[in-house]
This record gives sequence, structure tokens and C-alpha cells, in this order.
Amino acid sequence: MKTRNLYIVTYGCQMNVYDSTCLEASMRKRGWNLAESQEGADFIFLNTCSIREKAARRVIGHLKRLKALKLKNPALILGVGGCVAEQEGRKLLDEVPWLNLVVGPGRLSEIPLLVENLTSDMPPIVLSGQAPLAQPEPPAQPGPALDSGQRDLSDFEEIDPRPAPIGSFLTIMTGCDNYCAYCVVPYLRGPERSRPREEVLAEARNLVSRGSVELTLLGQNVNSYGRAGHRGGEDFVDLLTEVSKIPNLLRLRFTTSHPKDFPPALVGLFGKLPSLCEHLHLPLQAGSDRILAAMGRRYDKNRYLSLVSALREACPDLALSTDVIVGFPGETEEEFLQTVDLLETVRFDFIFSFKYSDRPMTKANSLPGKIEENEKQRRLTHLQAVQKTITLEKHQALIGQSREVLVEGFGRKAGQLSGRTRDLKLVNFDGPASLMGRLATVTILEAWPVSLIGQLSSDRPSAPQNLN
Ligand code: SAH
Ligand code: SF4
Ligand code: F3S
Repeated sequence: MKTRNLYIVTYGCQMNVYDSTCLEASMRKRGWNLAESQEGADFIFLNTCSIREKAARRVIGHLKRLKALKLKNPALILGVGGCVAEQEGRKLLDEVPWLNLVVGPGRLSEIPLLVENLTSDMPPIVLSGQAPLAQPEPPAQPGPALDSGQRDLSDFEEIDPRPAPIGSFLTIMTGCDNYCAYCVVPYLRGPERSRPREEVLAEARNLVSRGSVELTLLGQNVNSYGRAGHRGGEDFVDLLTEVSKIPNLLRLRFTTSHPKDFPPALVGLFGKLPSLCEHLHLPLQAGSDRILAAMGRRYDKNRYLSLVSALREACPDLALSTDVIVGFPGETEEEFLQTVDLLETVRFDFIFSFKYSDRPMTKANSLPGKIEENEKQRRLTHLQAVQKTITLEKHQALIGQSREVLVEGFGRKAGQLSGRTRDLKLVNFDGPASLMGRLATVTILEAWPVSLIGQLSSDRPSAPQNLN
């Protein structure tokens, strides 16, 4: 039989990137190849994000553009997954009737079998909700459900003799129980479920054995991994410690951490586990206590600042990044300026900042005091200008210093390599392609707002190849 080709487009968060990798592995196992372009595909899958209105509209735009391809090739199977699929479900078919599959993230593992048995003249299939767990929770272990039904571990162990990426993502828990007032994720990704420790460890070892030297453990709130509610974050601390012991793993990261669930034992791992990198993403969202309470974040400004102090005490070189929302319903100018103040106090290395966007089902959606679009834009521009200066100053302070860079790609200019420092700074420098996937020692020469320019150090040899 003719081999069939798959084309996946991934929007949204790193968890979607991970899910797309799982889907790709599973499809390859069934004999599918990756298409080089949408035009050469038998199955196009858009893995989508609905975190803000704009993200969701972007997906609809893409789907509408795919109509032309579908007309040219009626056998083409078009599928939508991820959070827009979960949110819109069957309604997507009203806007995009040429779709064949709409599958929410909790049903991802059902796609390969579905696609194999699907022809484009069949009525569209819509699946949402969470797939039933494959194994019932052992009765002796109370706590949140362990999610072992989502993906097939054998996908990672047998079929994929191919090298894994230099840096890989690994989802350790799915869903979210926090219900922040602005956020649609808990409604779309379901309740928190942690994957069994042994399954995560086996997958981590497998990724490293296939060449990944950096792993990022993923979840909407990784700190509540396992039975954190009962054991104060010990399960995550234990998992992180175990993963860090994998031979040949050079760098370990995790994201995202909710500040309300950050135990001292986790703070203490920074600067202690050699592979744990000196960077933490710690979403702040707002600098005003009233807004934080209205957002349902369950920490205040002082608690956030104490956590930052504890982290910097444990690891003085720790780089911090954050997420901030401007224009939450009812946010006054003064409350907005408290967010700006906090950015100046903490001096994050970089931030992701967003205009508040109404999302269906959320508590904030029905709150009074919505802020005008122009005003939200003004606040965002102001805040980003303040942060740009801080980031640039932090970058300039690195000029003349030497940094370890993991080479992960090529820069824009010919002969240029690109990689990240342990504290997640992007560095471009001239060097041989043979350094790909390896650590290089680089001296920083130039600072820009989003990246640094460096020079490969000639005085110190770059670290030896540390792959299997
Ligand atoms: N679980 C993570 C992040 C989830 S989404 C956490 O707890 O922080 C990533 C970021 O998108 C959030 O941190 C928030 O800053 C932003 N975001 C989420 N919902 C939003 C909304 N309705 N409008 C604007 N930004 C939003
Ligand atoms: Fe959304 Fe809050 Fe959950 Fe993060 S912790 S995914 S912001 S509800
Ligand atoms: Fe987007 Fe869903 Fe991730 S809304 S951010 S793809 S969990």
C-alpha cells in the first residue's frame, strides 16, 4: 500500500508541542511519513490553542485557507485537535464544514486508529472530553487520578529508533484544578491528572538514550504533580531529583509552576541538582493584591516577593521570567501601575505579557468593568517598554562574560550557530556545524533585546560530546 503522509501544525503551549510529537510517533508506527508541505499531505492536523480570542481566530483563519487544498484533493483528511477542538466541538463544522475530524486533547490517542479507518466521504467525527483511564487507580493510593491511558509508552520505546530532538518536552501531568478567573484551560483540559512516576522516568530515559540532552517537564502546574495536595510537593521534588540522575542528561527544566504551590524543598533544588538549569518561569499575572484576589490566584504580592527572595538566596544566578495580564476587568490605572512597579522590583529576565481576553465559561467573562481595547493596548505598550529596558540591561551586563551554550540550531546569518545558555538566553555565534547538540563556551560580545551575539571561546575547549 502507498505510504501516506501526515502534516501537523502546532499552535499554543509546549503541551501541544508534546502532544503533536506523541501523535507523530504513533502515526509513524502505523507507517505514516511526514509530508514536507501541506500540499503533499494525506492528513493535515491542526493542534490548536484557545487561550486568548486571537489565538482561536487564527486557527479558524487557517482552516478557511485549507478549503482550497481540500477542493483540489477531496481525499485529503482534515483534522482539528487541541483546545479549539475541545471548546468548539461540533460548532466548528458550521464555520468549517470541510473538516473530517474534531478531536479534543483528552482523546488525542484515538486519532491514529480513527484516521486509518476514515475516508473523506464519511460524516465528520467529533470527540471531546477525557479518554477513560486505561488502568484503574490502585485503591491503596488515594489522591488525584494517575493518567496512564493517554498515550502509549511503546510509541517511545520501540518504534522510535530515530534520534530525539536536542531538547525534548515531556508532559508529566495534564489538566488544571486552579480555575483562575480569566483562564479557559481547566474547562478544556479537564481536571489535573498525573502520569505515573515510572512511566515518566521510562520516557525520560528513552528520550535521553535517543540523544536528548535537555528535558523540560511540563504541566499547567507541575508543582502539584502526583499527590502534592497531600504531600506538599514532595512527589514533584522526588520526580525532578530522579530525572536529574539520568546519565548524559545535561540540562533539566520544568514549567509551569504556580507560585501558591512552591514548597521550600523545591526552592532548595536550585543550585543543588547539577542539571537543573538556573531559570524559572513563575507566572505573576498582576501586581495588585486586589486584582490577584479577583483572578483567584491565591497568593498576594508579598508572598510572591518572599518566594522570589528565597529562590534568589538558594540560587543567586537564577533567571526569572513571568506572565502578566493587563486590563483584567475592573483594573484601575493605579492597579496597573502596581504591576509595572513589581516588574521594576523583581527585574525579571523576560516576560510574556498579554491583554486580558474574554474567554467563554470563565468567571471573569461575566465580571463588570471591562477595559476598552485601546486602553488595554496602551497599558501593554507601557509595560512592555519598561520590561524591554530591564531585559536589555540584563543582557548588557553579560557583555564580556563567558557562558555555556547548548547549540540547538543555526542563526540567521550563514555560518552562525544558535543556542541557549542555562538561564535561557538566546545566543548566536559563528562556529562549526559539528557543535550541533553540544555544549560550547561562548564569550558574549553584543546585547540585543531578545538575543545576544557571542564568540566561540578559543581559550577554553568546548565541552566534550556527551551523547550516547
Ligand atoms: N498554567 C500556567 C499558564 C497557562 S496559560 C499558569 O498557571 O500560569 C499562559 C498564560 O496566558 C497565563 O499565564 C496568562 O498570563 C495568559 N492568559 C491566560 N488566560 C488569559 C486570558 N483570558 N487573557 C489574557 N491572557 C491570558
Ligand atoms: Fe489557567 Fe490558572 Fe490553571 Fe494556569 S493555573 S492553567 S492560569 S487556571
Ligand atoms: Fe492553549 Fe490549551 Fe495550551 S488553550 S495554552 S493549547 S492548554
